[in-house]
Amino acid sequence: MSTEHHAATGPERGPAIQVRGLEKSYKELHVLRGVDLDVARGSIFALLGSNGAGKTTLVKILSTLLRADAGTATVDGVDVAGQPARVRESISLTGQFAAVDEILTGRENLVLIARLRHLREPGRIADELLARFSLTDAAGRRVATYSGGMRRRLDIAMSLIGDPPVVFLDEPTTGLDPQARIEVWQAVRELARQGTTVLLTTQYLDEAEQLADRIAILHRGRIIADGTLADLKRLLPPATVEYVEKQPTLEEIFLAIVGDDRAAPATTPAGTSN
Ligand SMILES: Nc1ncnc2c1ncn2[C@@H]1O[C@H](COP(=O)(O)OP(=O)(O)O)[C@@H](O)[C@H]1O
Ligand SMILES: [Mg+2]
Repeated sequence: MSTEHHAATGPERGPAIQVRGLEKSYKELHVLRGVDLDVARGSIFALLGSNGAGKTTLVKILSTLLRADAGTATVDGVDVAGQPARVRESISLTGQFAAVDEILTGRENLVLIARLRHLREPGRIADELLARFSLTDAAGRRVATYSGGMRRRLDIAMSLIGDPPVVFLDEPTTGLDPQARIEVWQAVRELARQGTTVLLTTQYLDEAEQLADRIAILHRGRIIADGTLADLKRLLPPATVEYVEKQPTLEEIFLAIVGDDRAAPATTPAGTSN
């Protein structure tokens, strides 16, 4: 894990994200009912939950777009309610819908953002990011011609301009086809490899299983399970069949924990969400 270019931000000890007793209601709808979580620096943390569980609400609070009703949250050691401007300096947020400009080329999009951030050598920054996310060949093409996976990768690349130590990816692969999902997964792994802390939300169990160092399940406003994949697997005894011992899948664990009083989990890329 590289830390050198992040060394100047935040207290160096302590988790990258810390949430305690966080609550949020929309009028009568009590969406978050006391959420606690810790995200270690340089890790990939998956917040898993069904559509409507409150994932985006939590990400919006952490990225200072929304204020919590109760509880505390810090990002990179800074309180999100107390010093939102400082928090915004250390994060980036990539939503489900790519924020790229279709008319521009991939490279032009990156250069534009680097200019807006008043960075030196925007062209060099753009070229480095294009290479890092395997977009060099497509750099000179208009984004309108990109596949869904390429757009999402470009979106993630754009969110990295300025080198934020903490990146929020809200459902980064919802709506993508299987090949594009794999491409985005590679991009996310690449982020973590460079030392960036990644909090991603997903309704896909396999996505959490593939990417995350740690997984938390948000259900009915609370974190009902939080651990490594191995921890979560230990919550269920391994099911044994006649000849081979079968480890439970994360999907089986999820269903066992949340019960069956919900719609089937969205395990297909066709799942919809907000
Ligand atoms: N601005 C809002 N006003 C009222 N209700 C909202 C608002 N935003 C979200 N909700 C509701 O809060 C719940 C959680 O939403 P959200 O955080 O978007 O869930 P997720 O991202 O997990 O799908 C849903 O029932 C949603 O309809
Ligand atoms: Mg959402």
